Amino acid sequence: MALSESGRRVAIVAGVRTPFARAGTTLRGVSAIELGKIAVRELVHRTNLDVDALDLLVFGTVIPSVLAPNIAREVALMPLLPKRAQAWSVSRACASANQAITDAADQIALGHATIAIAGGAESLSAVPILHSRGFSDVLVAAAKAKTLGQRLGAFARLRPRDFIPVTPAIAEPTTGETMGQSAEKMAKLNQIPRREQDALALQSHLNAAAGTRDGRLTAEIAPVYVPPSYDQAMTEDNGIRSDTNLEALAALRPVFDRRYGSVTAGNASPLTDGGAAVLLMREDRAAALGYQPLAFIRSYAYAALDPGEQLLQAPVLAAPVALQRAGLTLKDMDLVEMHEAFAAQVLSNLRGFESVHWAERAGFREPVGAVDRARLNVLGGSIAIGHPFGATGARRSTTLVNELARRGAQFGLMTVCAAGGLGFAMVVERR
Ligand SMILES: CC(C)(COP(=O)(O)OP(=O)(O)OC[C@H]1O[C@@H](n2cnc3c(N)ncnc32)[C@H](O)[C@@H]1OP(=O)(O)O)[C@@H](O)C(=O)NCCC(=O)NCCS
Repeated sequence: MALSESGRRVAIVAGVRTPFARAGTTLRGVSAIELGKIAVRELVHRTNLDVDALDLLVFGTVIPSVLAPNIAREVALMPLLPKRAQAWSVSRACASANQAITDAADQIALGHATIAIAGGAESLSAVPILHSRGFSDVLVAAAKAKTLGQRLGAFARLRPRDFIPVTPAIAEPTTGETMGQSAEKMAKLNQIPRREQDALALQSHLNAAAGTRDGRLTAEIAPVYVPPSYDQAMTEDNGIRSDTNLEALAALRPVFDRRYGSVTAGNASPLTDGGAAVLLMREDRAAALGYQPLAFIRSYAYAALDPGEQLLQAPVLAAPVALQRAGLTLKDMDLVEMHEAFAAQVLSNLRGFESVHWAERAGFREPVGAVDRARLNVLGGSIAIGHPFGATGARRSTTLVNELARRGAQFGLMTVCAAGGLGFAMVVERR
């Protein structure tokens, strides 16, 4: 059943995000919690929301702070919002903000809520770096020691290797493969040439640069005053390269398979800091409050496959199910928003959409079909704009529904690939 048939259609009223900054640059001093608060605060102000009516806030994050793991609650506790609003955090790798949105939409469709904020945030500048297990054990033993001698004895057990810190890797715990290696594998299995990857990356930058120039992308951005002085405001994404070209992209060296590889810094999404949020409402409530929703959620679907196979190919399994639940086909879609983790993954997903093999794996006889490139990621994607893991789903939902509204178009399809072999697809409708 399509979500829209529940009798409680869920409206996407508006969306706001922070600028996206390459990790280690302008927003390195702003925590994920703060990035989330900035997006939510601006969303509330722009929509003039009566916050007392807010039922819940769901937020996604992929590498949470160990000191404040429920980022949703930390964001919801800002003075602007009522303390009684429910708040919980979700993690579904790069589909985390999508999970936040569908969690909130489900609560509305179930009749448990009427107004919700959903989104996500990530600071990849501030990933937690941990002590080794050996060092942690010594610290615990020292804390429990009753005498100075026992404490010194605990520290005497330390070995040089215990001082090596542990950093989170962007790798699959089950296979040990990094995301980049998986993309490399998919490029080889699906025979995606380097020049096709670079051409897709170039298009991402050109589309995003156009959207920045004419204000379509910047209109979604809440300015961030940059610490420590707070006297400069960041108002645009800083990863978009309006000056890149195929020659510059072709000159970059492969990163994950230096000898035979094709995935480079130019055709991969960069590590990024940012936050994003959308306002969701039950249709009749939005109408009663005088809001004109940008779009409605018509259907969605999640899918999963073995991460050791083609890690980022599960959107190909999710999309036909979401389309079937919507009672629509790819031809009905005015715009397609496909997450760009790597150009090799986008092109693998597109090939999968046309393949009978992948259709049958998803339980269908006919493939989804060929995506019209003129409708694909028309304002660029994560390769150019950046990819703060937990925030991207809310950023892309906002961009998709705003662009559908500007075009007076009817239907949009969004797809997301995610670590763990997970995939997501959502169909939104305007009328
Ligand atoms: C690919 C990756 C390792 C590159 O990291 P990096 O080396 O820090 O990247 P940089 O931004 O410094 O780029 C490297 C070089 O390429 C150049 N470059 C990058 N994109 C370019 C473009 N579009 N055009 C021209 N040059 C470009 C940079 O200018 C830089 O050149 P320099 O060394 O002369 O300064 C990193 O972005 C990464 O890990 N990405 C994948 C993240 C991931 O796995 N995400 C999960 C997906 S779901």
